Amino acid sequence: MRNLVDILDFSVEEIDGLVKTANDIIENPEMYSDSCRGKILGTLFFEPSTRTRLSFTSAMMSLGGSVLGFSQAASTSVSKGETVSDTIRMVSAYSDIIAMRHPKEGAPIVASRVSSVPIINAGDGGHFHPTQTLTDLLTINRKKGRFTDMTVGICGDLKYGRTVHSLISAMTRYEGVKFVLISPKELALPDYVKADFLDKCSSEYVECESLEDAIPSLDILYMTRIQAERFDSPEEYERLKDSYVLTKEKLKDAKPDLSIMHPLPRVNEISTDVDDDPRADYFDQAKFGRYIRMALILMLLKTKSVSDVRTGGEEDPTLICKNPHCISMTERGIKRLFKGGACIYCDQKASKV
Ligand code: CP
Repeated sequence: MRNLVDILDFSVEEIDGLVKTANDIIENPEMYSDSCRGKILGTLFFEPSTRTRLSFTSAMMSLGGSVLGFSQAASTSVSKGETVSDTIRMVSAYSDIIAMRHPKEGAPIVASRVSSVPIINAGDGGHFHPTQTLTDLLTINRKKGRFTDMTVGICGDLKYGRTVHSLISAMTRYEGVKFVLISPKELALPDYVKADFLDKCSSEYVECESLEDAIPSLDILYMTRIQAERFDSPEEYERLKDSYVLTKEKLKDAKPDLSIMHPLPRVNEISTDVDDDPRADYFDQAKFGRYIRMALILMLLKTKSVSDVRTGGEEDPTLICKNPHCISMTERGIKRLFKGGACIYCDQKASKV
C-alpha cells in the first residue's frame, strides 16, 4: 500500500508516470470511465476547500467510482472529541482510499499509521499540499513542456503557504531550476524548507521583497494568497495582506512566454485585469487538478508494494516539539517521534526538554 503524504514520497519517474497518465486521460477520457467501478473514495475535509475536494470528487466519479465524506469537522464525531486516528480507522473500513485535509501539520502521517487504505494528504495546515504540486507540475508540463532550466518566482506568503513548500521540494529535483523567493521578511520561507530541500539539493535561490524587480527574469510566476487563517495576530495579517498585487501594468516587462500560476483561491493578489492575459494560467491549472487526481487515484489503488518513506523516527525523552500547529500537540495516544533532531510530523526543529 502506498500513501501520498509528502510529494517526495514519489520518485521523479513516478511523477513523470502520473503526468503521462493525466495527459492521456485528457485526450481519451472515455478509456478511463469505468476504471474504478465499485471503489469508494473517502474525502475527509476538516478545513474548507473548493478545488481540492470537488476535483477529487469529480476525479473519482469520472473513473466510475463513488465518494463519501464530509466538508467540515463540525458535522462529525470529531466535534465530540474523536481523534484523527479513530476517525481514520472508521473511514478506512468504509472506503478504498482516503483524501484528507486537516489544519494540524502532520495529521496525514498519523492517519497513514492506522489506515488500512491509502491516505492522500490534501493539505495539512501550513506544511504540505502534495496533490496541489502534482496539479502544478501537470500545468508546467502542458504550458512549458519541461521541468528543467527555468527561473521560478514564488510570491506572497512563503511562510504559511503549504503549496509553496511542496512545490519547492518537488522542483529542487530538476536540473537548472532557479528560485526567486519574493515575500515580506515576516513571511519568508521557513528554515526547515530551506535546509531540507533547497540547501540539501544545492539549489540556486535568491530572496527579495520586490515583485516588480523580479518579474523580468521569470519563466514562471507562482502567486500565493496571504494565509489569513494561519496568523496568530489579526493585526499582523491586516498589515501584510496586500503586500503584493499583480496587475497588467506590472507585467509590462515580463517575458512573453511567462506562465502565471496560482493555486487559488485568490483574494487580492492578482488583479482581475490579468485574467484575460494569455499568460494567465491559473484557471487552467485548477482544471488540470481533476485529471492528475484521476491519475493519482488509479496509481494508488493499483500499487500493492509497501513503501512509505515517512514511517521512520524514534522516541527521544530529551526532545520536545513546540510547534503549536503540530498534530503531536493535540492528538492523544501517538508517539512523539523525532528524526535528525526534527519532529517527524511537522519537520520543525525540536527543542531540548
Ligand atoms: N488550491 C487549493 O487547495 O484550493 P482549495 O482550498 O479550494 O481546495
